[in-house]
Order: sequence, then C-alpha cells, then structure tokens
Amino acid sequence: MSTRTIQIETPRKLVFEIFRFDPGQPAGEPRLESFELEEQPYMTLYIALNRIREEQDPSLQFDFACRSAICGSCGMLVNGRPRLACNTLTATLPETIRLEPLPAFELIGDLSVDTGSWFRGMAEQVESWIHEREPFVPDAVEERMDADLAQALYEGERCIECGCCIAGCGVANVNPDFVGAAGLNRIARFMRDPRDARSEDDWFEVVSDGNGVFGCVGLMGCHDVCPKGLPLLEQYAYLRRKMLGSGLAKRRPDGPGEARDPGASR
Ligand code: SF4
Ligand code: FES
Repeated sequence: MSTRTIQIETPRKLVFEIFRFDPGQPAGEPRLESFELEEQPYMTLYIALNRIREEQDPSLQFDFACRSAICGSCGMLVNGRPRLACNTLTATLPETIRLEPLPAFELIGDLSVDTGSWFRGMAEQVESWIHEREPFVPDAVEERMDADLAQALYEGERCIECGCCIAGCGVANVNPDFVGAAGLNRIARFMRDPRDARSEDDWFEVVSDGNGVFGCVGLMGCHDVCPKGLPLLEQYAYLRRKMLGSGLAKRRPDGPGEARDPGASR
C-alpha cells in the first residue's frame, strides 16, 4: 500500500509598509506605517487593505468601488510601481509590500488621491467631446461606421482613468499641465472620429506644444504600467505623425500660416 505525503504550506506573513499622511492635519509628519497580515489564497491588495482597515486601523484611507479593474479608483504605487490594487494578487509580490499614493495627483489622505480633478482639467484642456458639424441636424439618419475604425475608437475608450500612466510618467510628474498618455489617448480617439468637426489645424493649435504631443520625451513608462494594456505607443505615434504633417503644412509658403514652436507653452 502506497503512502502519500500531503504538504501543507505555511501561509506567508506579509508586512505592509503603508504611507500615512493627512493633509488636513499638516502638523503630522508623512511616514510609513507597518501592518502584518497572514496571506490567504488568492488574496488581492484590495482584500488585504480592507482586512487591515477592519482589524487593525479604521482610519486608513484608500479608494475602491468596482473591485474588478473597471472604475479606476484603486491606483497606487505598489513597491514603487503604479498598479491597480484590486487586481494585484499578493502572491505575485514579495513578503514586504510598500504601498504609497500615486504621485502627480493631489493627496486626499494616506493612499487616496484626487484623480477626478486632474482628469476633468485634462478633458477641458483638450475639449474631449465631439464637436458637431454645422448645421446640426437632429433627425439626421445615423451613418454607418467602418468596423476597423469603430474598433480603433473603442480601443481609446477602454481607458478607465486610473491615473497609473500619469503617475508613471516623468514629464507629468514635473509638469502638471502636460496631458500625459491618458490625454494623448483621448485626443487620438477624437481625432480619428469622422463625426468630430475639428480639422488637423484645429488640433495643432490645441495639442502641439510642450503640454501636448511634443511634451513627451519618450520615456514610455505609461505603456509599461497601463493596467488595461491600451496601445498608448500607437496612439502617440499616430498623433505625432498627424501633428508633424499639420505643422509642416503650416510652414509651406502656401500653408495657412507660420508653425508654432513645438516646445513653447500655450
Ligand atoms: Fe489608466 Fe491606461 Fe487610462 Fe492611463 S491610459 S489612465 S494607465 S487605463
Ligand atoms: Fe475599481 Fe480597482 S476598485 S479599478
């Protein structure tokens, strides 16, 4: 009769080093606070943080809504890298896990940051809505769209506004007016849309300076950290080609005018 040895692994003891600071209490010092937790199978950072808050410190601040990588509210630095906490398994991380708020956004408290104001400002800066053609015909028959084009627009729409690409971007961290990969993705989405009345020259005026397309210095951190795998490099290359074409057209003697200095701010 054969005997089998069943090995039961001892759960890991995880150490969470969590950034703590409340900007509403400026007398307090920003610090890292340690919490210990026994790892469970399929534990995500969402589960771990909720257990810490329920069992050890009810004052810990962090954001979650959907728990399924859709709402974009749980972005944070995980051992220095921007990630979504709700779809990050602790099993993929070492025993010591450092959690910090995303940089480049206003801190609300601990791990919670205000991405909403940043994304609203960016949306207003690039006017990320369909600019309709004149005259507007409210009962016009809906026009068919090529399937490949619809797919390209859909790719741009998959952004969940988590802010990971902004936090992972060296330029966005030093220039709060830079629209970042999320903004460039948004611009490419509307520039491709045949329903949008804006011409390339219109777009050139909006995004062809140091806060737009030509602000990117090619670090590509955005592409590495986007949790939704958006084709950010493709979007960027598309925009740059379009804007260079528009800029060169402006430089021609028969063009609509002198090109602006791509490095100048608006
Ligand atoms: Fe997040 Fe990706 Fe959208 Fe950036 S482009 S906000 S990383 S989903
Ligand atoms: Fe919604 Fe993580 S909780 S994306």
